[in-house]
Amino acid sequence: MQKKIIQISDLHFGEFKFCNRLKDNLKFQIEYENPDLIVIAGDITSMGYLEEYNMARDFITDLSNIAETYVVPGNHDSCNVGLIHFRNLIGDRKFIGSDKSDDVIIIGLDSSEPDIHDGKLGFDQLEWLNDVLNRIPSSKFTIVTFHHHLLPIPQTGRERNILLDSGDTLKLLVSHKVNLVLNGHKHVSNSWKVEDMVILNSGTATTTRLYGDNYPAYNKILIRNNEISAYQIKTETGQERFLAHYTIDQNNKNKSDLPKSCFTY
Ligand SMILES: [Fe+2]
Ligand SMILES: [Fe+2]
Repeated sequence: MQKKIIQISDLHFGEFKFCNRLKDNLKFQIEYENPDLIVIAGDITSMGYLEEYNMARDFITDLSNIAETYVVPGNHDSCNVGLIHFRNLIGDRKFIGSDKSDDVIIIGLDSSEPDIHDGKLGFDQLEWLNDVLNRIPSSKFTIVTFHHHLLPIPQTGRERNILLDSGDTLKLLVSHKVNLVLNGHKHVSNSWKVEDMVILNSGTATTTRLYGDNYPAYNKILIRNNEISAYQIKTETGQERFLAHYTIDQNNKNKSDLPKSCFTY
């Protein structure tokens, strides 16, 4: 199996540090890449307002013409009861999807809470996730995406908004041998691997809300059988920087080991 996935996040349409030039670059570069799947890991708006959602929706429609595109909400999208616009203009806040050939399964979850920056998935979503993961055939490459970072991200100063139920979530995802987790929120690209699971964070693709000497960027992920390579792409120039390369054990998924409930590991 060979797949190319584009992971973007933190577009922040409507934000005063949002840059139209970067948005145009991003679309042009993704068209050139011609990926199998596009994942937007939240914070598509600045404050959850309707006009911001309208701009984001137009951009997401353009991306959908390139490849299957999936979006989860971020903390900024749930401000000002913005999730009503998310539902009306973008889609479901939690979902199961796939790439066109159905080799890759993607599960989206909503980690946002109204009007605060903290994130959590909560018991109900974790139980739902557990049920869904129990039903996915072990042959499928499985991705789970939600906005708030599952693990701390280096070079971002004081840690404040890690997922509140990150321990339970991490345990559940690792127990099910999920292959890839895609997060945003911190505006910094990063990669971790826990057991056989790769966890990638994408930076802000279209704003200059940055830490230190970072730059607006997003991730390109190449999957070749059991090899996962990740690159950070600078939105300004399209320049690539190698992030990480991992080998995972796809044969390691023994369904009989799987938990019946998300709290009975
Ligand atoms: Fe953000
Ligand atoms: Fe965020």
